Amino acid sequence: MAYLLGIDIGTSGTKTVLFDEKGQGIASYTGEYGMLQPQNGWAEQYPQDWWQAVVDGIKAVLSKSHVDAAAIAGIGLSGQMHGMTLLDKNDQVLRPAIIWCDQRTAVECQEIEELMGGRERLIAITANPALTGFTAGKIRWVQKHEPEIYEKVAHILLPKDYIRLMLTGEYATEVSDASGMQLLDVPGRCWSDEVLEKLSIDKALLGKVYESPEITGRITPRVAELTGLRAGTPVVGGAGDNAAAAVGTGVVKEGRAFTTIGTSGVVFAHTDKVTIDPLGRAHTFCCAVPGAWHVMGVSQASGLSLKWFRDTLCADEAAVAAQMGVDSYDLINAAVKKSPLGANRLFYLPYLMGERTPHLDADCRGAFIGLSAIHQKRDLMRAVMEGVAYSLKDSQSLFAQMGLSINHMAACGGGAKSPVWRQMLADLYGCDIMTVKGEGPALGVALLAGVGAGIYDSVPQACDAAIQYGEKCSPDGDAEAYLKHYEFFRTLYPALKDCYANLAKL
Ligand code: XUL
Repeated sequence: MAYLLGIDIGTSGTKTVLFDEKGQGIASYTGEYGMLQPQNGWAEQYPQDWWQAVVDGIKAVLSKSHVDAAAIAGIGLSGQMHGMTLLDKNDQVLRPAIIWCDQRTAVECQEIEELMGGRERLIAITANPALTGFTAGKIRWVQKHEPEIYEKVAHILLPKDYIRLMLTGEYATEVSDASGMQLLDVPGRCWSDEVLEKLSIDKALLGKVYESPEITGRITPRVAELTGLRAGTPVVGGAGDNAAAAVGTGVVKEGRAFTTIGTSGVVFAHTDKVTIDPLGRAHTFCCAVPGAWHVMGVSQASGLSLKWFRDTLCADEAAVAAQMGVDSYDLINAAVKKSPLGANRLFYLPYLMGERTPHLDADCRGAFIGLSAIHQKRDLMRAVMEGVAYSLKDSQSLFAQMGLSINHMAACGGGAKSPVWRQMLADLYGCDIMTVKGEGPALGVALLAGVGAGIYDSVPQACDAAIQYGEKCSPDGDAEAYLKHYEFFRTLYPALKDCYANLAKL
């Protein structure tokens, strides 16, 4: 029996999972780390923390599983997208990585569109407008604000590609994650000389671009000694976390889609031809299936909204959960069921970290609208979950406008464990929502490693062999009421847009 290792470098932690070749998880370990927020709207992490979590994870799964490292046929890497890791010529990290949810680059994004001769030209090449989350704006911010650091930069790597360097010594990336740097020619699947030249970024600073299942390097003897892996084990391109989750949920064919509620929330649809929103409200990226793309709407703070609420306002629930030996989210879900649909006329806007789809607004922030003295904490909890579901509905509606037809919707991420949240999505989307057995992005990249190692012939074939769907949640009698509330939700951002701009200037 061959085994495959999937490593997912997430925002709150790194999950390392060992799978057998049928996609069954054998052992798993999550190493957590924090996020620095030096200013409102900024977000940074230490790449060294990711690496420590990876080393701990590999050692842990090898020791828990007792699997002989020589039986591991391949390793796949997945990770949070867009983060900028800057290294000097000795591969030393020059500053904390500025990560995907950092919003400091509004000015730089405007400048990028001007340098490109307008938004349209940028969209024609990179398939997306300049977005504060994406890497190009972050690079420009360092060029302008920290020139003494930029002049020492020898390599610019995405989070998972920094881990690849540590594992294999190779400076490489793959098409799905590279799409989120805003430097890739997305239809052509290669670095864009035009964008690099206009943004004064030397191509030599970037890694070599591979397709996701291709072998990009092999475990070095030093890493073998450090972790217990076998030197020479192949490491494939892997994928950005969403493209990886697509493989892990079987979303590798036209008509298939998934919604994930992790820190961010994503609605993702596979497409065999490049499909671009001319207004740039949804992202179009290369996907992990060679020669195909995906369209993706992103809500910046989905799971993060409920986590923020729990961490900030639910100390009592956390104490009770600890006493009962249950997860505090289980108590929140139980409380939400006691609040009626619409949370007693309370709405929540989940814009804690600005918003991408559909507003593309770095300055907007979260809000409760309609607070009254009748509201109890459970109404606030319900409003948070409904507000997140409405913002995901914004993406799903946009896909319909773009002509993408979806006949299969899977749900994944921590939030998908909540039956309450899944029911809200089924009612709002008007379609069945399937849960998926397995480990999302980690399984996705392990399957890509299986393709690279020759265990499977293709990505769809790997998915057919390994992906199993679980519970199905169908729209019920509440659908109409949810859609009525959604229509009201849609009026809130336009009403607040100017207030947000003024708030940012305060
Ligand atoms: C996608 C995105 C997030 C991050 C973090 O564009 O920014 O999904 O990858 O998970």
